[in-house]
Amino acid sequence: MGIFRKKSVASLLAQAADNEKGLKRTLGPGHLVALGIGAIIGAGLFVRTAAASAEAAGPAVTLSFVVAAIACAFAGLCYAEFSSMIPISGSAYTYAYATMGEIAAWVIGWSLVLEYALGAATVSIAWSEYLNNLMGGVIPYKWCHSPFEHVNLLYHHVFKGGVTSISDDVMRAFPEAIRSTVITTHGLVNFPALGILLALTLLLIKGTQESAFVNAIIVFLKVAIVLLFIFLGWNYMNPANHTPYFIPADAPGHGGMFQHGWGGVLGGAAIVFFAFIGFDAVSTAAQEAKNPKRDMPIGILGSLVVCTILYVLFSYVLTGVASWHEFADPAKGKEASVAYAIKTYMTKYAGWLPNMVTLAILAGFSSVILVMLMGQSRVFFSMANDGLLPKVFSDLHPKFRTPYKANWILFVFVGSFAAFIPGSIAGDLTSIGTLFAFMLVCAGVIIMRKTDPDHPRPFRTPFVPFFPILGILICFAMIISLPSNTQLSALVWMLVGLVIYFSYSKKRSKLNTPLN
Ligand code: ALA
Repeated sequence: MGIFRKKSVASLLAQAADNEKGLKRTLGPGHLVALGIGAIIGAGLFVRTAAASAEAAGPAVTLSFVVAAIACAFAGLCYAEFSSMIPISGSAYTYAYATMGEIAAWVIGWSLVLEYALGAATVSIAWSEYLNNLMGGVIPYKWCHSPFEHVNLLYHHVFKGGVTSISDDVMRAFPEAIRSTVITTHGLVNFPALGILLALTLLLIKGTQESAFVNAIIVFLKVAIVLLFIFLGWNYMNPANHTPYFIPADAPGHGGMFQHGWGGVLGGAAIVFFAFIGFDAVSTAAQEAKNPKRDMPIGILGSLVVCTILYVLFSYVLTGVASWHEFADPAKGKEASVAYAIKTYMTKYAGWLPNMVTLAILAGFSSVILVMLMGQSRVFFSMANDGLLPKVFSDLHPKFRTPYKANWILFVFVGSFAAFIPGSIAGDLTSIGTLFAFMLVCAGVIIMRKTDPDHPRPFRTPFVPFFPILGILICFAMIISLPSNTQLSALVWMLVGLVIYFSYSKKRSKLNTPLN
């Protein structure tokens, strides 16, 4: 037993039946697909598409989306098998507890913190970018960026034609006389990101659930904006922006293996992978689905298919309207890239479209943050119920019946990342945590087929173990192609997690008492 002890599927299902008293089975397949899209489309598409094309893939970011989608499809099939077989909340953490034992469940739960908590931080940072853009850039740079970010600006009295931002390398090459006229501004704290997190934390504590209706409106808005941009932007694409389609090996600053050519496509996939995160959130609604055995796979795989088609088309148009070089420039399209592309190139629509797009994006980001914060508090809640985390994470508010203490602790944790860490770092950490969780879910399906072959499986992942193994390999390849600092930080995070497990959680696990 020890660290490999498992929770039986029977006890999980019994626990679910008990929890079910308060939950109504109201969601059909359409609702589930909408829920998935509500959690999926966000900063990944509206911010990281531009980042992936500028940093790694160029116009071939469309192929990065396809690679990321394939990895998600394998993992999605495995999630579908689990969520139809064990249709209860808790997601990957719960599946691991039943298949691979407590230590694996802990590791997944700990990785899910990276996925949900840092995911919320990343999207709140993106929210801040777009808010500032909507307000015409009036928020001073230092109050809406982390201390690790800075911008070098050359003003028009030096070079005619407004403000030009320049990279550190270019600035260093300037003669001293010009260099001294460059103004470098550093970030200090990202207040708007903190603000949106605070507002949504308060909303969660009050228990104001996103009703299916509100979610449907936000999903409708998001999809409408994506389609509108694709249709209107199609005529503004400049073929020169798509040539060459891959970043050449000799492009300045793109010498790394994952920064040009097909390697860049893989590097880009690891960056835009973020855009797919959230489809697994559908599995947390398993207890509210009318017919989970049939509808969970439809919800998970259906939302993936819809989003993949939208993403590929959207990224094709975005990199066709503006050049990927502009997405590397803080004074051009590095921030709020979609609004930039419209304002700069689709000038006919510059009057009304950018603001409308930005408002829809802000609403869309808010729903993603909400789902992430909620998902995180659910995972903490399950872990605390199992004794692996202190009880404070499962204490409910006397009136609102929400895990309010967990929500506040989470606000401090997520808020400190949102306020002080750049979005790209938080985003990469989110991706690595999620990729790791996906790998373990894929492995879980293979293990469960061996250890519990007779349990009814309303949905079966095809070609086991071939598909799950492919899922594991592609996720692993994406982890490898993320920056080494991110890999190191994730490793440190996992080590801290293991120290907590062995010094605290293992002794307090409820599985220590024979009743469980
Ligand atoms: N997929 C979500 C987003 O892109 C996390 O914002």
